Amino acid sequence: MKITASRTSLGEISEDVLIVPVFEGETPHDSENASALAALDHLTRGAVASLFDEGEMTGKLDSSVLLQNVGPFSTKRLLLYGAGKAEDIDSVSVRRLAGAAIRSLLKHRVIRSAAFLVTRKLETETFVQAIVEGALIGQMSADLYRSNDESAAEIEALDLISELPDPPDFDGAIKAGSAMGEATNFARELGFEPSNVMTPSELASRAKKMAEQEGLGFEALGEDEMKRLGMGALLAVSRGSNEPARLIVLRYEPDGKNVGGGSDDLIALVGKGITFDSGGISIKPAAKMEEMKYDMCGGAAVIGAMQVIARLRPNVRVIGVVPASENLPSGRAVKPGDVVRSLSGKTIEVVNTDAEGRLVLADGITYAINNGATCVVDAATLTGACVIALGETRAAVMGSDQQLIDDLVAAGEQCGERLWPMPLDDDYGEIIKSDIADVKNVGNRTAGSITAGFFLKHFAASVPWAHLDIAGTAWTEKEKPYIAKGATGFGVRLMASFVLNRAGSR
Ligand code: BES
Ligand code: ZN
Ligand code: ZN
Repeated sequence: MKITASRTSLGEISEDVLIVPVFEGETPHDSENASALAALDHLTRGAVASLFDEGEMTGKLDSSVLLQNVGPFSTKRLLLYGAGKAEDIDSVSVRRLAGAAIRSLLKHRVIRSAAFLVTRKLETETFVQAIVEGALIGQMSADLYRSNDESAAEIEALDLISELPDPPDFDGAIKAGSAMGEATNFARELGFEPSNVMTPSELASRAKKMAEQEGLGFEALGEDEMKRLGMGALLAVSRGSNEPARLIVLRYEPDGKNVGGGSDDLIALVGKGITFDSGGISIKPAAKMEEMKYDMCGGAAVIGAMQVIARLRPNVRVIGVVPASENLPSGRAVKPGDVVRSLSGKTIEVVNTDAEGRLVLADGITYAINNGATCVVDAATLTGACVIALGETRAAVMGSDQQLIDDLVAAGEQCGERLWPMPLDDDYGEIIKSDIADVKNVGNRTAGSITAGFFLKHFAASVPWAHLDIAGTAWTEKEKPYIAKGATGFGVRLMASFVLNRAGSR
């Protein structure tokens, strides 16, 4: 989708449809807020006002009316889209509004271009960026492999038009919104792909292609290299599978030598890349096991965030690390009770092979630290317990550095991918003490998300570290008006916004 901002007046729009958001209480008769509605009423010879007068359009959230071929109006179609209560407006509601309006048009397969009226309430950089992100995310469909022509229609061009005679420049917001929206969809696509396609090597090759296009450094370690380095935790997970594991590494260097005021800061983003999680020998029940193709969404979010970073070029070095593996049972698979030595040197008793995410992340985090990371953020679909605790709405955050946690929470509020903190008191560490090794990979039935986080803390050592459990937020069980069912790309905008904020580039 090509996105532009133009100064076209309402009477001269040439796109296939004009989308006009309508907040509750706005009418063409209300002279203060709704001059655009009054102008549109004029252009449609009273068709707009009659919709309001007859109560067909009230601005109620996600209500809509599509008018076709009205009056001397230059556009063939006018979509009035309910934006809900004006007092509820924030970047989340605006993103959803744009996404839902675009999604509602996809079934009209002939619509190829759209104009979106950025009404006065929406004329801020933040909201314009949210409109762009929402439109891109809303437009993407989940049916990657549908072979008949029922599959996705596409709106190829979106023009943002302003109500103001002299609108502000939205180029920066469009650039940032496009980078965020496109990278979110890239991460979603990686998530949607079935695990027979999205193997660890395929994840690496998609990351490589992106890195080449965007100018990022790329490297993918194979199993021989992992053995040589001593990544016993990652290799324990991949043992049961015929698909070889990969450790995907993406590097971003800012332009010029004067890096971050000469600082040696290196932010590491580490993402769980389990391309299919059957549970291994501690096998999962069959129900919903197909959803475990999404178990690489933390890794996809890291790859997506690195794409945003490459495009928006913050003044700080960033390394993205994605330990990628399948988790399958076989005659070679790691077994409950096995003890493995991680890259850090710490030994781990693998009590449950289904707690594999923390094993691959342990080596991923150590690899990042060994490569000079001065701050580590990991993202992972790590625990079912997190889905129970926070559902699809917020991801859990926990870590060893309060400033880092606060910065992530703030970035989440800013970009609409929201977090909720969980504690990591030392008491929780007692639950994962092993009788035979330095630590065991599962605790008891209590505090499942926290003990998983505590396990990772062992490997973050003294480097400021925070962990995002995105098990609930990484995919949505049901289609929403503003997004298809399935992978959400959660974490892309959050991690990218966090890095941009740290670099002071916004
Ligand atoms: N990938 C799962 C976590 C998960 C479950 C994500 C449901 C999304 C939805 C993870 O590897 C896992 O299996 N965790 C176990 C840990 C347990 C064995 C301590 C879990 O949560 O049940
Ligand atoms: Zn598992
Ligand atoms: Zn898993």
